[in-house]
Amino acid sequence: MTSAARQKIGILTGGGDCPGLNAVIRASVKTAIHLGYEVLGFLRGFEGLVDPIQTIPLDVSNTSNILALGGTILGSTNKGRFTAKVGVDQTATINPELLRQVCSNLKKLNIDGLICVGGDGSLSIAQQLFEVGAPVVGVPKTIDNDLGCTAFSFGFDSAVACAADALDRLHTTAASHERVMVLEVMGRHAGWIALHAGIAGGGDVILIPEIPWTFENVCAKIAQRAQMGKRFTLVVVAEGACLPGGELVTADSTARDRQVRLGGIGQFVASEIQRRLETETRCVVLGHLQRGGSPTYFDRVLATQYGVHAVRLIEELRFGQMVCYDPPDIKSTPITASVSRLSRVPPSGSAVIAARGLGVSFGDTPGFENPFPESQVTAQTFAERFRASATDYSMLLNDYD
Ligand code: F6P
Repeated sequence: MTSAARQKIGILTGGGDCPGLNAVIRASVKTAIHLGYEVLGFLRGFEGLVDPIQTIPLDVSNTSNILALGGTILGSTNKGRFTAKVGVDQTATINPELLRQVCSNLKKLNIDGLICVGGDGSLSIAQQLFEVGAPVVGVPKTIDNDLGCTAFSFGFDSAVACAADALDRLHTTAASHERVMVLEVMGRHAGWIALHAGIAGGGDVILIPEIPWTFENVCAKIAQRAQMGKRFTLVVVAEGACLPGGELVTADSTARDRQVRLGGIGQFVASEIQRRLETETRCVVLGHLQRGGSPTYFDRVLATQYGVHAVRLIEELRFGQMVCYDPPDIKSTPITASVSRLSRVPPSGSAVIAARGLGVSFGDTPGFENPFPESQVTAQTFAERFRASATDYSMLLNDYD
């Protein structure tokens, strides 16, 4: 692209907010201005693109000091006229007239490239805009870390830090009162937050959408811990983990044009544990605390790299692409490839194996699970070892009593 043709870059943040959005904005603006572009920020996500167009010129001065700031200075919305995702595999078609208006507005405003920062819903909108000719590039954002084709979306690490901190706090109060504490974390389709926070914060039971579980197994784990003298248990449950019967627990099932609001599984699990084991159980729902506040250093670095490389995609006219993280490199992938394939926790992936190695229960078996079912440790020798270690635990119990 010659410098004569170099004019303007647009940027918007769509969908639910998360820590690191401002770090992306800052990095894109700094890079674009360095290359000689003007930058226009669109307000309130995709809504700012049409009727009425809502923009703010972005420059180095109004994007300084925002690296560590939570939220987004551009605002965002995950409802309104642009809804492209209504369920896990459902993509809604946006009104073609609306898409045409966006294209014409971008032309009028001389936008050479539009950076759309968002999760699967926002990037599905970006893809539909690209298909009608808009020069869009994508940046993967979601605390849930469920976008395909990238190792991490920014926001995830900050959400994990928040949830792990909550577990650290719950650990001491759970131990003092000999209680079961259930922490409900976000994670609509994927249990990444629950899994990583559970490992980082010493969770004993982790319930995620990817691994079917039963109350019997969860209670067996709690009882087993009590036998070992551990009279408290930390349970981490993802909001999207289905109940054993397969139902999701929802906070509001009336939404027709958008994804249903999840929430409530933590209390359900807590009440059932208390009923079955007659042990004091409390539930904490972390909710939007996971989406607020300052990004972690990891997220600041990731978001900054994404912001810079998004400008590079525009500079190289690689529209319809999304920046992605393929450690240690930032690369790019078609937006459509990312949104059509959710990234979920592989049930035999290394993080799950590591958790099982620690004795964490995923509620799918009643006892200690063999973390290495495919290695030379046969099921039989594992059972023998488990029996041997169980004897040690009963000795521990005698000491404790
Ligand atoms: O997709 C991110 C997410 O944080 C989900 O985990 C959660 O279900 C949803 O957003 C909540 O969205 P809202 O802010 O609209 O309630």
